Amino acid sequence: MAGMGSGYGKTILFGEHFVVYGVPALASAIGDTTTCIVESKDGTGYELNDDRPEVPGYKEKKFDDQKISIKNVLNFMGVNLNEKALKITLGGELVCASGVGASAASCVSLARAVNDEFNLGWDDEKINAAAYEGEKGYHGTPSGIDNTASTFGGLVYFIRNLEGGPNTIETIKPEKPIELVIASSGMTASTTVVVGDVRKKKEEDPEWFEGVVKDYEKVIKEGRKALETMELERVGQLMNKNHELLQQITVSNDVLDNMVKLARDNGALGAKVTGTGRGGNIIALTPGAELQDKVYNALTDAGHPAWKTLIGI
Ligand code: MEV
Repeated sequence: MAGMGSGYGKTILFGEHFVVYGVPALASAIGDTTTCIVESKDGTGYELNDDRPEVPGYKEKKFDDQKISIKNVLNFMGVNLNEKALKITLGGELVCASGVGASAASCVSLARAVNDEFNLGWDDEKINAAAYEGEKGYHGTPSGIDNTASTFGGLVYFIRNLEGGPNTIETIKPEKPIELVIASSGMTASTTVVVGDVRKKKEEDPEWFEGVVKDYEKVIKEGRKALETMELERVGQLMNKNHELLQQITVSNDVLDNMVKLARDNGALGAKVTGTGRGGNIIALTPGAELQDKVYNALTDAGHPAWKTLIGI
């Protein structure tokens, strides 16, 4: 007997970091997934085989967080490792890197595999809640956007409920899927550290931070509308504006800025950091297969592993 599950990778189109403070954000699942197989064994504790592809160093850097995360998911789902043992095998084609929701996808896949192995009958909402507990292992105060996109798929408009009640989750469907390029800086950043640094900056100068958030609120409001009406030039401009705001809160760096510039110079309608930043990935909006290929080639030729994907499927 073995239980199986999977979770989507994700990319944040608008609003990483700002989403932590209860401001709306937009994320999209990507086609690549992490898969998990859970097998019950005699004994106690768990054995982990982590066969996920990675950018070099990712898994080692996240290993301690991963242990807490797995414990959180199992506890939340009522699995007592003092009474039973599990073999957990992670795989799938999602390449683990900061910014693609690798941690969220692994939490969702684990929760689904446990659900399957023990016939718990949990629906997506409960799986999402379990994955959220897992995400806390990677950073203490996740907004919940990553596990939500990873669980439900599609394009997700998300507002974190700061009072602890249910988050706002709305699915958006553009007229047709839109090509996107994701490219890796090769650097792995700690979400806990970067989110913590941004919080410190906010606390040091609340007025300044509020101003940046106000600018961002205009971006997300217009960005959502432009996506729904397929005004892609405008979506790109707003992604560029979002990148500027991420620079202001210090989550970009020279490598990421150069990647963003390269993507734009090669015709991307917009490009920005996605996810935690200070490493991880950028995304570039590249409607049409031809433009997508051009930007993909420019980034890979410059030594950045890249992926072609579609949003809004
Ligand atoms: C990380 O993918 C996104 C952040 O906004 C953190 C979070 O939302 O929990 C940086």
